[in-house]
Order: sequence, then structure tokens, then C-alpha cells
Amino acid sequence: MSDVLAHDGGAPVRTAPFPSVQSAEGRTLGVEEESAVLAVLRSGRLNSTVGEVTRALETDFAAYYGVPHAVASSSGTAAIHLAVAAVDPEPGDEIITTGLSDAGTVLPILAQNAVPVFADVDPATGNLDVASVAARITSRTRAIIAVHLFGQPAPVVELRALADAHGIVLIEDCAQAYLTRVGTDGALAGTVGHLGCFSLQQSKHITAGDGGLTISSDEALARRARLFADKAWPRDTDERTHLFLGLNYRMTELQAAIARVQLTRLAGVVEDRRRTAATLTDVVDGLDGLSAAPADGNSYWQFPVFLDTHRTGADAHWYARALQAEGIPASGGYIQRPLYLTPVLAERRTYGTSGFPLTDPPADVTPEYHPGLCPVTEELIDTRLLVIAWNERYGPGDVADIAAALTKVHAHAIAARGILEPRTGRIASRS
Ligand SMILES: Cc1ncc(COP(=O)(O)O)c(C=O)c1O
Repeated sequence: MSDVLAHDGGAPVRTAPFPSVQSAEGRTLGVEEESAVLAVLRSGRLNSTVGEVTRALETDFAAYYGVPHAVASSSGTAAIHLAVAAVDPEPGDEIITTGLSDAGTVLPILAQNAVPVFADVDPATGNLDVASVAARITSRTRAIIAVHLFGQPAPVVELRALADAHGIVLIEDCAQAYLTRVGTDGALAGTVGHLGCFSLQQSKHITAGDGGLTISSDEALARRARLFADKAWPRDTDERTHLFLGLNYRMTELQAAIARVQLTRLAGVVEDRRRTAATLTDVVDGLDGLSAAPADGNSYWQFPVFLDTHRTGADAHWYARALQAEGIPASGGYIQRPLYLTPVLAERRTYGTSGFPLTDPPADVTPEYHPGLCPVTEELIDTRLLVIAWNERYGPGDVADIAAALTKVHAHAIAARGILEPRTGRIASRS
């Protein structure tokens, strides 16, 4: 192996592509999915209001998670929208969440005319920090949305206790966290909060292209979520009426057919991801200034590495560029900026030019979304969070290449410690 970084013209550690969730090589899809889709097509019943497959998926998923209710929908964003709509906030009510997530966590809050309030995150995981959430609770707070980032367990047991103490609802965003285990008793993520939301989008542990599932043990919340996904049309009463403002977020029978088979593969997918992640965790934790995500309960949607940049000298963006040059699928920061600094929130691009609901009224105080709002979130995105793509199809050779490349890149960073400019990774002048 060349000692010269591929970034600087040396030979890369790896030239063959890795299995990726963007293609068949990295997706666990088989003939069973094909047959299931064909069966739906041949039945002529492609819509869940006439077919039975979506209902069967809901039954299977609820049983899998040991809860009485599961509601299918068209995407993970829709699954969270169902949950927020079930909470039924007043316009201007607040929902506390994280700025370090996919926008699908936050957009449903705005769509229901509630105000997203951002709490900061734990520097070791990027998951919500309980004390920060507690500090942001006001008389207007109606819910908390916790994200299990990259499959790592968020502190939902503590957040549930906090929510209960304030009479508010806890929603778990499990889009990246199928079969993640939380708390000391290893409960399944999604079952601790009042509602749990999952995504079947292309990159997730299991997929139907797009799709969502919302679970709950609360009968009333589940019923409202189900109605919201179907124009609030109470089909079980045979009445053609609309009980409140709802949309059409129904999953199709084709999606459900794929998702039902995917569910049978889920345990294996997570087991394979955990096994290979354990090998890389040992390597990462042996490198000075790098920490892997805690393994406990983690279902490894991605493999995050947390940098102590005082020790590494270089930041996560430099590592990501150097790893990419070595042929490793890696990125810095996960998202480019915290969600509260994206135009939809920072510039209040919501409904026409109104800025609603981020304006006063209805909120007593106009929310401020500015740099510095959540310093730990910003530090992770800007400098400390390195994300290595993960996949159940990685074999020992793939993990060995990632480990070799990371070790090589890290050795260069340490050798140049203190003389690498942050972000650019250029050797800074020593004068
Ligand atoms: C944490 C998180 N929440 C919500 C979503 C939204 O899911 P979808 O893309 O299926 O709408 C995603 C995925 O993209 C996600 O990763």
C-alpha cells in the first residue's frame, strides 16, 4: 500500500466500488419481492382501500414491534406528519427537536402550523441532549421529536419521563433506526415514545423505494394518525365524510407488498450490519482522537466517527475528502448546515410571503434561527462528524479496506497535526 495519500497522488487503498444502497449490489431484495409485486399487479387491486396487503403489512409491523397499532403511509416524512397531526397542535404551539437530521423530521411540524424549537445534541452521538430539551420546554410545548441518528439509541427513556412530567407527547423518529434497542431493558426504539415513525425510503435498512410506518400503543393517537393519512375519511363507518383536515398519504399495495417481504429480512440486515460494524469500531477506537458510535443497541444505518480535532489536527471534512480519494464512501458533517439554517426556517419560506407560523402572531415570540443556536450541533457538522456509508453486504475485505484507509489517512493527519488548516486540510504556513 502506498504511503502517499491518494488525495496527494498516491495509490488509493481501494479501487473497486463498495456495495451501496443506491444499487442492487447493496440492497437485500430478492425474488420474493418480485413475486409479491406481481401478485398485486395481477390482482388488479393496487390501492390500499381495495386491497389487503397494506393492512397485512400494518398487522405484521405492529406484531413485530409488539404494539397494537401501525399505520402505513407514503414516506417517512408522511409517517412523522401523521404523528404530528395526531398530536393536533394549535397554530403556534411548539415542538422541540434536533437540527441534526433529515428535513423530514422537521417539515411536518411546519406543515401542521406548529413552530420547531431546536435543542442541542450530545457531542458523543449527535442525539438530542436531555438537559437542552428540558431547558427549551415552555407553556406552548406540545411534543418532542427525538431522532435515533444513524441507528444510535437516543435517550428516549429519559425524554419520555420528561414528556410525561410536562404532559406532552414524545415522537420517536426511527427512520434510521430499525431494531435499535434503547434503555437498560433494551426496548425497541419506537415503542418508548407515544408514537414511533419509520421510513422505507431507498437508503434505509429496508426499503420499498418510499414509504412510511407510524406505530403507537395509544388508541386515540393511532386512530387520528390513520384518519389523517386518508383525508380523515372514516371508512370503517361507511360514511363519506371528512372529520377534520387530513390529506392522502396512503401507501400503495405495491409498496406494501415489497415492504412485507423486506420485513422478513430486517433482522438479518441489522445483524449483518452490527457484526461488521464491531470490527471497524475496534479499529476506530484504537486511533488517537477518533471515537466510533457506542455499539450498545445501535443498528448502524451509517457508521459515524466523532473527531477530537485538537488531537487529530484535521477536521472531518478533510478526513472525508482524503477517504473518498482512497476509494472509501465517506462524507463530512452529514448535512451541510443545521436544519434551522436552511432557507425554509431561517428565511421563513413557508406559506406565500406570510412566514406563518414563524411570525408573531401566533407565536408570542418570533423564533430566531441563527448561527450559534445549537453550538454542539454546529461543531459536529462543521468539524467533528465523519460519516462512513454502511451496508449489510459489506464483507471482511470491505471492512479491512475501510480500516486500512482510515488508519492511513489518520496517520497523515497526526503527522501533520497543527499544521493542517481546518476545512481545507492544506498545510498552513508555520511562520
Ligand atoms: C431521520 C430521518 N427522518 C425523516 C426522514 C424522512 O423520510 P423520507 O425520506 O422517507 O420521507 C429521513 C429519511 O430520509 C430520516 O433519515
